[in-house]
Amino acid sequence: MEAVLVTGGAGFIGSRLVKRLLHFSDVRRVTVLDALTYAGHIENLGEAFLSPKLEFIQGSVLDGPLVDRLVREHSAIVHLAAESHVDRSFYEAGNFLATNVIGTHTLLDAARRHGTAKVVHVSTDEVYGPVVSGAAGEDDPVRPTVPYAASKAASDLVALAYFRTYGVPVCVTRSANNYGPAQHPEKMIPLFVTSLLKDAKVTLHGEGEHVRDWLHVQDNCSAIELVLRDGRPGEVYNIGAGTNVTNRDLTALILKACGADWSSVTYVPDRRANDLRYAMDWSKIRALGYRPRRDLAEGIGETVGWYRANPGRWAPLLRNPEALMPKVELTKVDG
Ligand SMILES: NC(=O)c1ccc[n+]([C@@H]2O[C@H](COP(=O)([O-])OP(=O)(O)OC[C@H]3O[C@@H](n4cnc5c(N)ncnc54)[C@H](O)[C@@H]3O)[C@@H](O)[C@H]2O)c1
Repeated sequence: MEAVLVTGGAGFIGSRLVKRLLHFSDVRRVTVLDALTYAGHIENLGEAFLSPKLEFIQGSVLDGPLVDRLVREHSAIVHLAAESHVDRSFYEAGNFLATNVIGTHTLLDAARRHGTAKVVHVSTDEVYGPVVSGAAGEDDPVRPTVPYAASKAASDLVALAYFRTYGVPVCVTRSANNYGPAQHPEKMIPLFVTSLLKDAKVTLHGEGEHVRDWLHVQDNCSAIELVLRDGRPGEVYNIGAGTNVTNRDLTALILKACGADWSSVTYVPDRRANDLRYAMDWSKIRALGYRPRRDLAEGIGETVGWYRANPGRWAPLLRNPEALMPKVELTKVDG
C-alpha cells in the first residue's frame, strides 16, 4: 500500500476513495489519473487536492505510455475510471467500450509488465442483468442488457483473464447503485433531488416497480479499501447495502426529504432494457468484515442537505453542453 494509483479519482466514488486512503499512515502516496471528462471535477477532491501525499495527473487510461510510467511507479492500483452513465451509453456506446474495456486492458497490461502487487477493478451489479428472483452470487454468469453494463462485464472478464493467464493479482468489486453528496446530477437520486429543489417534476418509468439496492458511497469506499487490503486475487466481491427498494419507495423518501409530494411526479411508459430487479448476495465481502453503516433514509436526508447547501456546485453542471444528452427513445417490446 506504499503508493496507490487511483484512476477516475476526480469522479464521484474515486474522489471519496482518495480522501479515505489519504488518512492511512501506511499509504505514503496517492496518485490520481483522471481525464476530467464532463463527469470528473477537481472540486470533488476538496482539501485532499492540497495534500502533500497527493499527486494529480490529468490524462487518459487509454494513453499507453503515460499509464505504463504511472503503473511502474506504484505498488497498487484502484481502477475506477470509466464512462459510468447508463442513459449516455445508449447513444455513445463506442466511447463506453473504448474507455471501459480498452482502458482496463491498457492498465492491466502495464500491471502485468511491472508486477503490480495488487489491482482492484471497480465494477457494478448491472453486469448480472435482471435478477428475477433470489440474489446474484459472484459465480453467476454475467448477462448485461445495456451497453454500459456490457462494457463493464467485458472489462470484468478482461480483468479475470489477466489473473488466470498472467497471474496479475486483480480483484473485481461489483457494487450496487451508489448515492451520496456531490454526485453528478445526471444520476437518478441527484436528478430527482435537484429537480425537486427547482420545483420541477420528476419522472418514474412504468409504475416505479423497478427494484434497486442503494449503497452509500462511503460504504462502497470502505468495501473497496477492504478488498484492496485483504481481497484474494482472482476473486469477485459483490458489495450491497441490503436496501432493495422499488423506485417508487425511493421516490417517497426523496419527496419527504425535499418537502415535496406526489404531485411533483409524472409517470411515463417503461422503456426497453430497463432491468426490473437487481439483487446480489454479498455474504463473501461480509466474511472479510464489511458492514454497510448508512441507513437509506438518513443517507437521503444527508444527500438532500448537501444539494440544498451547494447549488453553486451542481447548477452549472446542468448547463454544461458536454454533459447534455440527446433523448433516445427505447420503446418497450414484449418479451
Ligand atoms: N455510481 C455508481 O452507482 C456505480 C455503481 C457501481 C460501479 N460503479 C463504477 O465505479 C466507477 C466510478 O463510478 P463513478 O460513479 O464515480 O463515476 P463518475 O462518472 O463520477 O467518475 C468517472 C471518472 O472517470 C474519469 N474518466 C472517464 N474516462 C476516463 C479516461 N479515459 N481516463 C481517465 N479518467 C477517465 C472521469 O473524468 C471521472 O472523473 C466506474 O467504474 C463505475 O462503472 C459506479
